[in-house]
Amino acid sequence: MGMIKKTLLTGVKPTGMPHVGNFLGAIRPALALAEQESYNSFLFIADYHSLTHVHKAEELRQMTYEVAATWLALGLDPEKSVFYRQSDVPEVFELNWILACFSPKGLLNRAHAYKAKLQDNQEAGRSDPDYGVNMGLFTYPLLMAADILLFSADQVPVGEDQVQHLEIARDIAQKFNNNYGPLLKVPEFLVQKESKLVPGLDGRKMSKSYGNTIPLFVPSNRLRKLVMKIKTDSSPPEAPKDPNDSLIFTLYREFASAEEVDSFADHYRRGISWGEAKEALYQVMDRTLSEPRARYEELMADTRQVDQLLLSGAERARPLAQSKLKELRKAIGL
Ligand code: ADP
Ligand code: TRP
Repeated sequence: MGMIKKTLLTGVKPTGMPHVGNFLGAIRPALALAEQESYNSFLFIADYHSLTHVHKAEELRQMTYEVAATWLALGLDPEKSVFYRQSDVPEVFELNWILACFSPKGLLNRAHAYKAKLQDNQEAGRSDPDYGVNMGLFTYPLLMAADILLFSADQVPVGEDQVQHLEIARDIAQKFNNNYGPLLKVPEFLVQKESKLVPGLDGRKMSKSYGNTIPLFVPSNRLRKLVMKIKTDSSPPEAPKDPNDSLIFTLYREFASAEEVDSFADHYRRGISWGEAKEALYQVMDRTLSEPRARYEELMADTRQVDQLLLSGAERARPLAQSKLKELRKAIGL
C-alpha cells in the first residue's frame, strides 16, 4: 500500500509576465511543494478570474500564455502536476452556482476587494456605492471556492492577500456540509509570509503597481540595465557596508549558493563598490534565469505547445471534477 497523498492546489491569475518578486515569493515555493512525493498537485491558470477586469480578448489570451509559459519554463512538470486552464474545466462553474446558494450575501459584502471599491466610491463622493462593481468582482471569492472545493484540496498555497478568500471557501464548505454531511473537504492554507517580501528597484515591495519590477525573462542585457538601476546610497566604494541593510544583497542571497553568499557578505564588510555589487548580482541572476528564459521564449514562439499541455491537463482534471459533481448533485436532490 502506498501512502495516502494530500492534494495541493493553487491558481494563478494571468497578469502578464511575472516578475522576480512573484518568482521568489510565489512560484518557486509552490513548485518546490508540487515536487514533493507526498502531494498530488493541481496548478491552474485562473483565466476567468481575470475576466472581472480584463475585457480585451487579445490581452487576456497573451497574459494567459505568458503565465503558463513561465511556470513551465521554471520547471513545472506537467506529467507530475495537473496543469490546466480554469476555463477548460466547466464543472467549476456548476459548482460555483451550487456554492452561491450556500453563501450568505453578507459574507461577500465583507470581501476585501469589494470593500475597497466601496471605499473608493465613498472617497470620490459618488452617489452609487457600487459604481464600477460587476458581479464577477463581487462573487470572485465564490469562484475561487469552487476551484478549490471541486478537487477536494487539502492545502492551498497562497499569498497573504488571498487568506480572506480561503477563509470564505472554508466557511462555505462548512455551511454546505452542515446541511448535507461532510462532502466538501475544508481546505487549509499555506501562507507565504510578508517577511519574505522581495524589494523592488526603489526599495519598496516589488510590485507591478509600483512600476519597480524586474520582469523575469527580459533579455540578458536588459536585465543588466535593470539591476544597475537598483537604488543605493552615496557611500564611497571603500566604506565597509552592512550586507543586511542592502537591497542588492537581499536579492543576491536568493540566487547564489551558501558559499557565494558568505564571500559576498565578506566583501561587503571589507568595502565593495555598488557597481561591483550590482555586477555580481546580475551574474547570479542571469545564471539562474538564462535557461528558463530560453525555454520561455521557445514556448511563446509556439503557443500551440502550451495549449496542448493545458488541454491534456484539463483532460486529467475533468473526470475527477465530474465524479465530485455527481456526488454533490445526488446529495442536493437533483
Ligand atoms: P503584484 O503586486 O506585482 O501585482 P501579484 O499581487 O500579482 O503581484 O502577486 C502574485 C503572487 O506573487 C502573490 O502570491 C504574491 O504574494 C507574490 N508576490 C508579489 N510580489 C511579491 C514580492 N515583492 N515579494 C514576494 N512575493 C510577492
Ligand atoms: N485569487 C487568486 C489570486 O488572485 C488566484 C486564484 C484563483 C486561486 N483561484 C484560486 C488561488 C484557487 C488559490 C486557489 O492570486
